[in-house]
Amino acid sequence: MKRLGVNIDHVATLRNARGEFHPDPITAAKFVKSQGADSITIHLREDRRHINDLDAKKICSKKNLNVNLEISTNKNIVQNALKIGPKYICIVPEKRNEVTTEGGLNLVKNKYKIKKIINMFKKKKIRTSLFINPRIKDIIISKKLGTDCVEIHTGYFSNLVKSRKNFSKELLNIKKCSKFASDLNIEVHAGHGLDYRSTKLLSKIREIKEFNIGHFIISESVFFGLKKVVRKFKKIIKN
Ligand code: PXP
Repeated sequence: MKRLGVNIDHVATLRNARGEFHPDPITAAKFVKSQGADSITIHLREDRRHINDLDAKKICSKKNLNVNLEISTNKNIVQNALKIGPKYICIVPEKRNEVTTEGGLNLVKNKYKIKKIINMFKKKKIRTSLFINPRIKDIIISKKLGTDCVEIHTGYFSNLVKSRKNFSKELLNIKKCSKFASDLNIEVHAGHGLDYRSTKLLSKIREIKEFNIGHFIISESVFFGLKKVVRKFKKIIKN
């Protein structure tokens, strides 16, 4: 069974637009779980533009929620994450001026730093994942770094699908990378820019075990409500 991780960062974006308390990300986390989400993803960004430390602490303290905390390699963020103690972490690249995480990690440049971080979380029995571009070379390095999982950045694929361009080559690339990683005993996840159509296409790839979807779920909920949208994604990924 494939799992659905719901990224609730943009619930916090909406709350922060007014600087008050509504909508509450913790309530959202509990709600999406009640509608079938298998895990909750949150990104504690260095600029705290959406999820803040208190949100992360409260969400991770809920024993019945499987929380996947996305973190950069920044020392303070890593230390905070170790204190917060999520169930899972995903290391992502982070640039201050980007609107969203634009690509996967540069593993060649950051391999020593990343290996150290992976080891710190492994010692605490926290599942580790690396957000990577769909490239065989990056999967080979991921294996050497000892990560439990990789999350394939699906941004390029999603954009091709959305703009009605030919996506077959990129779909095949993701399929090949997923198989390659899975054969190396690395669990494969996928995320970024996914909507109903791109998720449906990727759900045919047997090796992808988890989807992490955020912006589309929260924005589509403006029209149809979180309940319908989360349930629809659960149906799509059920293969
Ligand atoms: N997975 C990872 C590792 C992310 O950093 C993000 C957010 O950029 C997502 C999934 C969700 O992406 P989106 O909000 O585009 O669905």
